[in-house]
Amino acid sequence: MKLLEKITLGKESLKNAIAMAPMTRSRANTEGVVTDLTVLYYTQRASAGLIITEAINISEQALGSPMTPGLYSQEQIDAWKKVTKSVHDNGGVIYAQLWHTGRVGHSVDRKGKLPVAPSAIGIKGQQHFTSQGLKDYETPQELTTGEIKQIVKDYGEAARNAIEAGFDGVELHAAFGYLPNQFLSESANLRTDEYGGSVENRNRFVLEAMQELVSASGNDKVGIKLSPTIYYNNIDNSDPVAQFTPLIEALNDMPLAFIHLMNGILPLDNYPSYPKNAIETFGSISKHLVIANAGFNKESGEAELKKGIAKMISYGSLFLANPDLPKRFELNTDLNVPDGPTMYGGGEKGYTDYPFLTEL
Ligand SMILES: Cc1cc2nc3c(=O)[nH]c(=O)nc-3n(C[C@H](O)[C@H](O)[C@H](O)COP(=O)(O)O)c2cc1C
Repeated sequence: MKLLEKITLGKESLKNAIAMAPMTRSRANTEGVVTDLTVLYYTQRASAGLIITEAINISEQALGSPMTPGLYSQEQIDAWKKVTKSVHDNGGVIYAQLWHTGRVGHSVDRKGKLPVAPSAIGIKGQQHFTSQGLKDYETPQELTTGEIKQIVKDYGEAARNAIEAGFDGVELHAAFGYLPNQFLSESANLRTDEYGGSVENRNRFVLEAMQELVSASGNDKVGIKLSPTIYYNNIDNSDPVAQFTPLIEALNDMPLAFIHLMNGILPLDNYPSYPKNAIETFGSISKHLVIANAGFNKESGEAELKKGIAKMISYGSLFLANPDLPKRFELNTDLNVPDGPTMYGGGEKGYTDYPFLTEL
């Protein structure tokens, strides 16, 4: 089975081609510091070829949701050190996913400050999960050109902190409507400076952030997660192929470890210009190792690897519920079913208490 074969990613030799997809679990403390429960959670999943952590805020400004962790204070860095050490001691490889939420946040969890974004356009038709319940999105504050350049530097600082914390590399969260994705989108980015107004300008922020991450972390230690055909969080593009092809081509010129592609998970009937299969359309033009994501099980993951475009498959909810997922694939056993209500927030229930095979 290709899923269980060894593979090289960046500087790491991985024991299988199965990645744990990044998943926010909202179990940090109010200072964005992860706890010993998080050490246990990731250690339980160290049999993944690669763990990509939950999204981690790069700065206080980046924060959008309650109880999400950070990588900008010494206390946060020191807490992550325990996670990386334990995962490494158990033979795992772990990348930190770096997060700036942009307009996908709310002032009630941002010390009263409005979220920031490429343009002052709020998300419509959705609500945000806050510490005070669901709330309508606010109109975010438009970033100045200088503030954008500072955020690029903040990514670099967070990547240096990630390396100090013992992570093997970092992934830019440029998917699912968060800040980098907002810059890439014609509906969220109406800027007229160098960061908007053309395909090239909309791609600029992501490319600058990636360059900064490479400078901070080193060659072959940086990945990126993209979702070119997901319009959640009001992310629209008239022609995703025209926007993302030059982006992926420019990423080809950087010394990256991987590109992590999410397939469309929403109906595309009203989006005729959106390619039906993002892995095929965009993965085939990437020179980097492609990790394919969204909706895979063992059989479809194996079939995807056989196509030859993706070299790894990442599993989200299945890894959340099955700490020993590679073993279960190997033995072809039943899988635990993910529990929706305990996905975000809480304690060990639905976090560290999913049973291993041996406990069944
Ligand atoms: C509880 C939960 C939290 C998630 N948080 C993140 C996140 O922090 N960063 C991210 O890139 N994707 C996040 N995702 C999306 C997953 O990484 C993945 O793309 C998605 O679950 C589809 O993969 P799957 O079908 O294997 O679950 C999250 C998904 C779940 C279920």
